Amino acid sequence: MIAISSDHAGYPLKEALRHYLEACGVEYRDCGAYDTNSVDYPLQAKKACDLVVSGECEKAILCCGTGIGMSMAANKIKGIRAACCTDYFSVKFTRLHNDANVLCLGARVIGAGSAEELVNVFLNTPFEGGRHQRRVDQVMALENE
Ligand code: RB5
Repeated sequence: MIAISSDHAGYPLKEALRHYLEACGVEYRDCGAYDTNSVDYPLQAKKACDLVVSGECEKAILCCGTGIGMSMAANKIKGIRAACCTDYFSVKFTRLHNDANVLCLGARVIGAGSAEELVNVFLNTPFEGGRHQRRVDQVMALENE
């Protein structure tokens, strides 16, 4: 189960990705926005990230104008490792090396076709573990400082 969420700016991209997940047969929880009325991205980030932290969803995809506000908000939530990406290599390696559990995308930065490819690699690339596990553990320990 994948959580998806957006603010008003990310709504068109979130909708495109919702249809993409449906076409791929991926189950999702849609945390809104449900239209282009203004809604604040920190609140929308929290809705989806809470589902990841509780274990109800394996990962989340967050869309705002740039992807940056969503990633800032998401990374304040304990248990979240959010990456704001615009390219295939970064998405692939944030899964392989950082075990990112949240992907943030900018609806005003990339098109839906590119975003679909990024979501595909985000959902299908495993964490490499090994030496990267130690580093991920160090990242997560920063939450308690
Ligand atoms: C909304 O106008 C915009 O600021 C928001 O979607 C996002 O880009 C913030 O980082």
